[in-house]
Amino acid sequence: MTNQIQIADKTFELFLENHTISKRTRLIGIQLNIDYEDKCPIFIGVLNGSFLFMADLLKEVEIPCEIGFIRVSSYDGAESSGKIKETFGLPDHLHNRDVIIVEDIVDTGFTLNYVINEVKKQKPASVKVCSLLFKPAALKAPIEELEYTGFEIANEFVVGYGLDYDGLGRNLKDIYREKTVPADLG
Ligand code: IMP
Repeated sequence: MTNQIQIADKTFELFLENHTISKRTRLIGIQLNIDYEDKCPIFIGVLNGSFLFMADLLKEVEIPCEIGFIRVSSYDGAESSGKIKETFGLPDHLHNRDVIIVEDIVDTGFTLNYVINEVKKQKPASVKVCSLLFKPAALKAPIEELEYTGFEIANEFVVGYGLDYDGLGRNLKDIYREKTVPADLG
């Protein structure tokens, strides 16, 4: 395990170790097993970022459940432009089902708002969101459905455990945050 890594032009420092993420994930799993006891929810992972969290989380879920993935893309390639273009692969049998959307991170919340609206068009019985990370200071509009959060973090750029910088870093076991240069040195 390295404390500092370089990806393209950015330097990152270790922030959340894999064992810390695992412990928190186990607790969320226990909570889900309680909250959805006697139900058969559908977990929908938002790709690409959620792929590792989704896999580890679902290993902790012991109730019967279905699993699907969706992918969203935004106009202009800008992650937080607020203009989401298309959804790929959203399951079409969500009517009267309990849906749990699984995200890597909630930043502005634009992506999630779009996905929640798409899911609601099918009139599910319930919709909740489970996100590994949440940046409250970056959120543009409240998300009532955000029920399960792994870690609330400051408005910093993070990478690893599914999250990328310029397509890189998703395979890192731990989460790193961008190292900022003190103003007087920068
Ligand atoms: P939102 O629509 O602004 O909430 O952005 C959500 C998406 O932006 C996430 O699913 C990530 O793909 C990406 N994102 C937001 N913040 C970060 C970050 O700190 N590191 C890497 N990706 C991020």
